[in-house]
Amino acid sequence: MGVNILHFSYLIASITFILGLKMLSHPKTAQRGNLIAAIGMFIGIVATIFLYEKDGNHLGNYTWIFSGMAVGTIVGTLMAKKVKMTAMPQMVSFFNGMGGACAAIISIVEYNRLANAGISFDANTMKLEVLTILLGLIIGSVSFAGSIIAYLKLEGKLGDKSLPGAQIINLVLLAGLLVLIGWLISLGHANMAYIAILIVFALLYGILFVLPIGGADMPVVISLLNSFTGMAAVFGGFLYNNQAMLTGGIFVGSAGTILTILMCKAMNRSLTNVIIGSFGGNKAGDAREVSGTIKEISLNDAAVLSYYAQKVIIVPGYGLAVAQAQHTCHEFEKTLEANGVIVKYAIHPVAGRMPGHMNVLLAEADVAYDKLLEMETANEEFATTDLVLVIGANDVVNPAAKNDPASPIYGMPILEVELAKNIIILKRGMAKGYAGIENELFYSDKTRMLFGDAKVSLQNLLSEVKSL
Ligand code: TAP
Repeated sequence: MGVNILHFSYLIASITFILGLKMLSHPKTAQRGNLIAAIGMFIGIVATIFLYEKDGNHLGNYTWIFSGMAVGTIVGTLMAKKVKMTAMPQMVSFFNGMGGACAAIISIVEYNRLANAGISFDANTMKLEVLTILLGLIIGSVSFAGSIIAYLKLEGKLGDKSLPGAQIINLVLLAGLLVLIGWLISLGHANMAYIAILIVFALLYGILFVLPIGGADMPVVISLLNSFTGMAAVFGGFLYNNQAMLTGGIFVGSAGTILTILMCKAMNRSLTNVIIGSFGGNKAGDAREVSGTIKEISLNDAAVLSYYAQKVIIVPGYGLAVAQAQHTCHEFEKTLEANGVIVKYAIHPVAGRMPGHMNVLLAEADVAYDKLLEMETANEEFATTDLVLVIGANDVVNPAAKNDPASPIYGMPILEVELAKNIIILKRGMAKGYAGIENELFYSDKTRMLFGDAKVSLQNLLSEVKSL
């Protein structure tokens, strides 16, 4: 009876994951979707704790289990409540790393159990179990180490570091891991010393493949690490015959993989390059020097240009999130529209610091979804646009991606805002973007700079427009 209820709870959990994932695809339903999936996960966890049985025994260890859950809940809640919107990508990376670490620890515990029981690995079913353990351990460790490096980089505590011969070292580590898998399976019994070597190799690979990722290529790595954690959880699901863990892992793994492919396309990069860590070969310092004169625009001129334009496209970037200017931006958009101006938003797939960052931000301010243009559509529309307002964006509109082969963002498709008739850039000063390179767009004849915090500038612009 208990076992049936347990499996039923896994079915419920899996269904809530599917519903949750579906609802996450739209900003209006995303919060509820997240909650529904979390409730399903909770049901699965509670059912496992009380109903899982092996050889007639329940899990036991309740003090340990509930203590761990209490600590995790308190730390997770505090972190999620305290995190600033702009530090969200770091937190997501950190949590992703914890997921990888959990999967790796499950594998270590299970391997240790086999070692203590002195079980022989000669039977094919045992070989398969050991393979599952080893794959979970490797992928989980890589995801843990890589996500922590990504976290430190996004937090600004670690720069891009490319070691000489890093790609060769990565290939050697990968080959070493394959040899160790073969060796540990054919050994016929457990050997913790080899497991320790395997863990070191996997952690080193995780560190070395993320360490050199520079320029604007972090988004691809973040989504790849996400899919690794999902895959590692899948192996845990196989080990425990836990369907909820299995389906959850498959969803995370496949969603992460799809996102990685989309990000690779958006950045015009190849997946093989990511896996052997050959991104970021071009350092920011190699990029071409940019010179010219910066032209500022007065608030009044900016207001007149916006108010009497036929079509305005807003390009939001990371600075919009830093300034938390999304609500003011939406108000500005409505004010222009009331005067008959067509206002749209051009969304670059890697604008901000996490996938979908700008979509989430604008949805929070109730900007209508059909106003958001994808990069390709926006690029077709710029030529017929009177004014582009670039709000806190930099790398995603940098023409160096098209015309400077030495630039670390060379090859990345960008929003071609220079095709529009006029461009106004809202930023605080001349600071560089994430990729650390100059932007020649700021020096273009068509461009005018409106310096200041994006929210303050937009508020001033709004009052100016209202007074016209
Ligand atoms: P960035 O190139 O990072 O530029 C942001 C600009 O915003 C900066 O130049 C900064 O200049 C300005 N800014 C900061 N705070 C501001 C404020 N309060 N008010 C006004 N402006 C402000 O942003 P982007 O164009 O969105 O490009 C995103 C970059 O991050 C890409 O290189 C991308 O590859 C990378 N990245 C993306 C992700 C994902 S998944 N989206 C993940 C990791 C990395 P001032 O300081 O002069 O104001």
